Amino acid sequence: MELLKEEKNQNGKQKPKKNIAKNSIKEIKQLTPSQIVEELDKYIIGQDNAKKSVAIALRNRWRRQHVGDSMKDEIMPNNIIMIGPTGVGKTEIARRISKLANAPFIKVEASKFTEVGYVGRDVESMIRELTDLSVNIVKNERLKEVELKAAENTDERILDILLPQAKKTSNGSAATGEVSEAEKIEKAAQDGINSQTREKFREMLKKGLLDKRMIELDLSSDNFPMLQVLGPVGLEEMGINLNDIFGNMMPKKSKKRKLSVAEARKVLAQEESNKLIDMDAVIKDAVEKVENSGIVFIDEIDKVAGGQGKSQGPDVSREGVQRDLLPIVEGSTIITKYGPVRSDHILFIASGAFHTSKPSDLIPELQGRFPIRVELNSLGKEEFYKILTQPENALLKQYSALMSSEGIELSFTEDAIIEIAKTAAEVNEQVENIGARRLHTILSTVLEEILFEVPDRIKKNKIEITKKYVNDKLNAIVKNRDLSRYIL
Ligand SMILES: Nc1ncnc2c1ncn2[C@@H]1O[C@H](COP(=O)(O)OP(=O)(O)OP(=O)(O)O)[C@@H](O)[C@H]1O
Ligand SMILES: [Mg+2]
Repeated sequence: MELLKEEKNQNGKQKPKKNIAKNSIKEIKQLTPSQIVEELDKYIIGQDNAKKSVAIALRNRWRRQHVGDSMKDEIMPNNIIMIGPTGVGKTEIARRISKLANAPFIKVEASKFTEVGYVGRDVESMIRELTDLSVNIVKNERLKEVELKAAENTDERILDILLPQAKKTSNGSAATGEVSEAEKIEKAAQDGINSQTREKFREMLKKGLLDKRMIELDLSSDNFPMLQVLGPVGLEEMGINLNDIFGNMMPKKSKKRKLSVAEARKVLAQEESNKLIDMDAVIKDAVEKVENSGIVFIDEIDKVAGGQGKSQGPDVSREGVQRDLLPIVEGSTIITKYGPVRSDHILFIASGAFHTSKPSDLIPELQGRFPIRVELNSLGKEEFYKILTQPENALLKQYSALMSSEGIELSFTEDAIIEIAKTAAEVNEQVENIGARRLHTILSTVLEEILFEVPDRIKKNKIEITKKYVNDKLNAIVKNRDLSRYIL
């Protein structure tokens, strides 16, 4: 509908459509807590408490958006810390909610950061990245909105190039001043022919019949980012881009290039879409989005917890990272290349296995910033069975899909699956508990021969994995502890 209206008043430059996008933050689909849990259930088995807390925290962001302004500022996000052994789904939950959140979301690893003043990434960079991401999201949304219009404008520009004659006569009339009656008639006739030609060409262009034709384009040097100014590393970190500074100082050189219509369309479409969107509005919305609904997932937070009985050296800088995290989690203003961004209402979810350290090893102030603690349970054979079969991306389904690409129907008998789950749980107990990751190693051992021999030596269209087959492949290894340490 929107587009139809636009086409009607097409007698000038189109203004970017601002008002539709304005509401997009509020209008996007927002799941209720139980819907979020339902979505997570499709991929993650068990861990109900963690799912619930995350669902509540996500929904609370949306609820806060609908609260009156004075109260809105008071409502702080319920930052969460997820604690649980390795391989039980902490990172998996983060990955899945990033798709559900409908909000700028990044996952960072606490261990990758270094204290301010040391070489490395400082913690503020996570907010800068989040802002970059948000700008991209909003920009892409806007680009989608203007896509059709941009494509139309692009076609017109290509027509202008293909038919310079037609363009000249139809536009140049006003400048000639007085024209005799005869000239007028002739011109009108010419215009008629021109517009007919143009219409014909437009049709051909739409059908892609002209795609191979070469045309000459005037390209502003913007399209050729030939000079990459490399500044000192620190600048990039601070969100300052030398290209932005110097790029604008350089005179814009235009350059002629020969391109096929198909190629030219790509280049021009980009130019035209960029003309149609209002970048200032994009940035404003993007920053607003980050501030009100941004989510940062800090994985491996236990890696920056002190822990006892460790050498002093690294602990000092780890604690430094924690201290740097404090103001960000608590709420402060971070300078990004899109301007200042406040982190007060950004939701932080931290997670860690806390094998060698405990949550209480985190500095107390930081503990206080994560008021909600959820524990994830370690997984046993019942959960493994479900993980193997239920999730939409379940491992068995993945392998079956791989095999079907070879034209083979791979299936597992019920007792084979139980056997795999059981063995995984056993090896986890005996050797080391690596959670559901054990299923990956076990399955790849069970299926190795098949994966290798298909399609050369195994030529069937159905393979069924039985309990006996599983045992044949695994027994020798499981019985030998040393062997299983290396192979499984
Ligand atoms: N509860 C679960 N349901 C379904 N799959 C799971 C579950 N737990 C783990 N997995 C699978 O196991 C693998 C490892 O899980 P994940 O990366 O979430 O571990 P983690 O808890 O983050 O461990 P770590 O502390 O070592 O980072 C993933 O492939 C994931 O799909
Ligand atoms: Mg993890």
